[in-house]
Amino acid sequence: MGLFFAGILSYCLGSIPSGLLFGKYIWGVDLREHGSKNIGATNAWRILGKGPGLLVFTADLLKGVLGVALGLYFVGTPLAMILGGIAAIVGHGWSIFLGFKGGKGVATGLGVIAMLMPHVTLVILGVWIVIVFFSKYVSLGSVIAAALVPIAAYIFDEPLEFLYFGIVAAIFVICRHKTNIERLINGTESKIRSGHINK
Ligand code: G3P
Repeated sequence: MGLFFAGILSYCLGSIPSGLLFGKYIWGVDLREHGSKNIGATNAWRILGKGPGLLVFTADLLKGVLGVALGLYFVGTPLAMILGGIAAIVGHGWSIFLGFKGGKGVATGLGVIAMLMPHVTLVILGVWIVIVFFSKYVSLGSVIAAALVPIAAYIFDEPLEFLYFGIVAAIFVICRHKTNIERLINGTESKIRSGHINK
């Protein structure tokens, strides 16, 4: 029963489309109509500016953190923490409030990984920062960092269930970046700049 509650609550929490809500009700902009049309922090940064981008990133990250915390609170086992985190990521990607559409899961996934595997988090965050800093492609950093999660989990000798979670999360994030990967390959992916509405 506890697992059921944790799963439902985490899914609903993950479903809250923070980028869409902040964009629409604070800045009067629907992120789904601009830039990459994604509701995540990168598009908020790109379209609305650095502050809004950081705000959306923090809110989405917290959804992942709380998803794991709900698993911990209601059940208290590592598996329940993983399932709570997955429910939050699933909610973010297939939001009940957006007709089962949603975001790419990077910030929410990072929140989950931060709770489960802090050492892995530091490594992938470092790699992400270096790639984005030099390439200016956030999606490139996200895809490579996601692919590194199970590898780093293996290197740090994390529990097997965390490693399996890392594989599932990496597949989810990479699949969600399908159009970004296509644009990266054909050279049309947009480099990160902040506050460029309508571009
Ligand atoms: O976190 C999502 C990022 O990797 C790509 O976002 O808006 O460029 O599709 P976007």
